[in-house]
Amino acid sequence: MHMVTGSTDRRIDKLLHLLVKNAMVVVPGPKIAAEIGVTRQQVWTWIEKLRLLGVEIRGVPAEGYQLATIPDILVPSLLRAELGDHPIGRNIVHYFRTESTNAVALRLAAEGAEHGTVVVAEEQTAGRGRLGRAWYSEKSSGIYVSIILRPPLSPAAAPVLTLMAGLAAQKAVNSTTGLTVDIRWPNDLLVNGKKVCGILTEMSAELDRLHAVVLGIGMNVNHSLMPAPLESIATSLRIEAHRGISRVQVFVALLRELERHYQLLLKNGNRAITERWEAASTFAHGKRVRVSNAAGETPGTTAGIDLSGALKIQYDDGRQESLVAGEVVELK
Ligand code: BTN
Repeated sequence: MHMVTGSTDRRIDKLLHLLVKNAMVVVPGPKIAAEIGVTRQQVWTWIEKLRLLGVEIRGVPAEGYQLATIPDILVPSLLRAELGDHPIGRNIVHYFRTESTNAVALRLAAEGAEHGTVVVAEEQTAGRGRLGRAWYSEKSSGIYVSIILRPPLSPAAAPVLTLMAGLAAQKAVNSTTGLTVDIRWPNDLLVNGKKVCGILTEMSAELDRLHAVVLGIGMNVNHSLMPAPLESIATSLRIEAHRGISRVQVFVALLRELERHYQLLLKNGNRAITERWEAASTFAHGKRVRVSNAAGETPGTTAGIDLSGALKIQYDDGRQESLVAGEVVELK
């Protein structure tokens, strides 16, 4: 694919790959320069850039560069071997820094990017959350990714696609960290009651046809602490697991689980997702919640997910409703 404006120069990707391939060996600067086709000065500049991102590269005077540890950066060349050849992740666009991967993905989708295209960034300067909120996107600590899907489905399928993404993210976190992960409707992942992952689904559609759906997933992975205003409601995988977590591993598992659950949805329909979601979330049945939406805040009890992906609520005043949007907070 052609180079996407501002995305990571494929030659930096090559440089990292070269260092990883020769891990623990000192690779001479001129050799690197020759192999990727740039000047030695450019190699040095890129090495500095990678160091700023936490990649430990030793410079051995008059000899060359040596990787101290395998870097935990989400560049395609470090992911390729693990990903296999599936539609989701076949084309990965990487940024060291961008405003919002969802914004980039929507733009690429409008330009015709293929199904399964993945946009990922080490840092976002304007990460966006649901309900007009911002998403805290600390450099190199989290996973900030947007996946472009072109499902052969109607716009009515969007809520189920959103549930599907939450389910896939839950499985990925659980299998790579061993942590117990809950899903708060529609798709926040919680560990020990605090949020570790949020999903923002955006799309372009006509009345009867989805052009593209962008699943934007933000995950707090290696943050050693969350900033003050978030601390009481959000956490990271590292904080909860009491150890550093490989972003590469979680990311690879995430894309695989998305592929698997997407296929499941296309093959077996909505029920395959809603049933699994109900089994995976303590919010599905009998949870005391406060529902916030345009109508205000109302207490009630959850009563399952319907086939369209809506959350059924039994309000304390006797009314029932199927929520398609909005937010629920557990009442304790
Ligand atoms: C939420 O409010 O819970 C949803 C947060 C979604 C954040 C992710 S980070 C990657 C993608 N790009 C964005 O700007 N937002 C989503």
